[in-house]
Amino acid sequence: MAVPAREAPAAPRGQPPLAVPVEPLHAGAPGAAEPAAGQRGQGENGDPPGAWRAARGLTLEQPQGDSMMTCEQAQLLANLARLIKAKKALDLGTFTGYSALALALALPPAGRVVTCEVDAGPPELGRPLWRQAEEEHKIDLRLKPALETLEELLAAGEASTFDIAVVDADKENCAAYYERCLQLLRPGGVLAILRVLWRGEVLRPQQRDTAAQCVRNLNERILRDARVHISLLPLGDGLTLAFKI
Ligand SMILES: C[S@@+](CC[C@H](N)C(=O)[O-])C[C@H]1O[C@@H](n2cnc3c(N)ncnc32)[C@H](O)[C@@H]1O
Repeated sequence: MAVPAREAPAAPRGQPPLAVPVEPLHAGAPGAAEPAAGQRGQGENGDPPGAWRAARGLTLEQPQGDSMMTCEQAQLLANLARLIKAKKALDLGTFTGYSALALALALPPAGRVVTCEVDAGPPELGRPLWRQAEEEHKIDLRLKPALETLEELLAAGEASTFDIAVVDADKENCAAYYERCLQLLRPGGVLAILRVLWRGEVLRPQQRDTAAQCVRNLNERILRDARVHISLLPLGDGLTLAFKI
């Protein structure tokens, strides 16, 4: 059943009403438009956007499904990857692989996403959808602490070879992830750090809130870091984009 367009939002005070109804913003949002008759359905082989949409739905059904990045964040990161013609991506914090799949879809056929996770369960739930999107071959899942994988990549001589890195794992190690990812990125590469506002707790972290303190410390460190240009976007729970000089 087709979803009706949403009503136009109220115009800002003192301005004429918006005449154009607003379509659903993005696939995967509650109420997003279903494929029209004749289009391939969600998650069928060779229907990458359908599989990606299905990955969002599947993830939302899981406990902690809301730890997945927002659709807008994933779209932006995938589009940045396309813009810089990325071939190699890093994804710290796989969960079901929603972000890994978004990146894989943005890479060329020989591209690679190294994705890091400590919990084997969620990626195995998502894997059938990576396969249905015909992107499974690009997704290199490393089941061990992300820091170990980053050290292995550095030891294997992969410094300065990655185009984009997405940091969305535990916060306690976020400063170490930042440093290692910066080493692994090429000049011009993009480093994205998720949840940098930490529900606003970064403004005045409680003493016992280690995660909030780590995020705040990293934010301050990045602000002073002459190796990058940054943008901190209030998307989702905050997204820092650091562009390696
Ligand atoms: C916020 S979720 C990732 C969401 C995912 N990026 C997405 O948008 O679909 C964080 C994930 O990081 C994983 N994680 C936590 N500590 C980790 C570590 N030390 N190394 C690798 N992964 C870790 C958790 O198990 C969890 O699945």
